[in-house]
Amino acid sequence: MPQKRPDVIVVADANALARAAAERILARLNRSNGRLAVCLTGGSTPGRLYELLAGQPYRDALPWNHIYWFWGDDRFVPHNDPHSNFGMARRLLLDRVPAPSGNICPIPTRVETVEEAARLYESELRRFYGGERLLPGRPLFDVVLMGLGPDGHTASLFPGRAELGEKTRWVVGVPEAGAEPFVPRVTLTFPTLASTREMLFLVSGPSKRKIVSEVLTGADMPAAHAYSEGELLWLVDRAAAPERGDVAPTVPSAASREG
Ligand code: 6PG
Repeated sequence: MPQKRPDVIVVADANALARAAAERILARLNRSNGRLAVCLTGGSTPGRLYELLAGQPYRDALPWNHIYWFWGDDRFVPHNDPHSNFGMARRLLLDRVPAPSGNICPIPTRVETVEEAARLYESELRRFYGGERLLPGRPLFDVVLMGLGPDGHTASLFPGRAELGEKTRWVVGVPEAGAEPFVPRVTLTFPTLASTREMLFLVSGPSKRKIVSEVLTGADMPAAHAYSEGELLWLVDRAAAPERGDVAPTVPSAASREG
């Protein structure tokens, strides 16, 4: 899939990043009607966003009954484990809003192997989608949230791994993680993550500046290979944004818009 250069919005800080993401999600979910699907990410960066969505005005504004929640990847640990991406989202968001429990679809981790978990989750996604093949123009998700690891990984798609080239499987097991926490993982593949109306990368903090610059200038890193059937947007806070001139934000930053 030809890599369209993502749109990049630079915002002031981590709070502004969470707010910008919350506004995009609200706008996107209010644009579609009927059944909605959101694919959440893990790691530490989305925490503020999840807390924000659990509060006003989003708590009253989001159509909770219509939204189904999925995960782009998870660590193969019990859901109450501190490393569980599902556990984190449940604690910070889903336990605090009127989200029907039947709409919450975590990656199963109470099974023997990551492969079994991947197979089960793939069938669950196919059932939800109502088809065996992801069709252009009929996206599986409305919003997919993505993060960026210090090594350029995204979801649990790590540099140099075979799963980067997976074209048919929707979900794969990753017995060995390429980054902290070094626990086995289960991850959606690029074509499944791409089946969305909007893909939002959330990147925050000075430790990410170098890798953001590398990825956005085309370095061969997993995150540079992420694509979207619909919109692809990187929300980056000032601390993580490449030095001026390295990579021009494609959309005037909130700061410059606010003058
Ligand atoms: C995971 C994530 C992973 C994450 C990045 C960034 O399960 O670890 O899905 O891809 O998004 O590692 O993590 P931070 O937000 O903690 O920097």
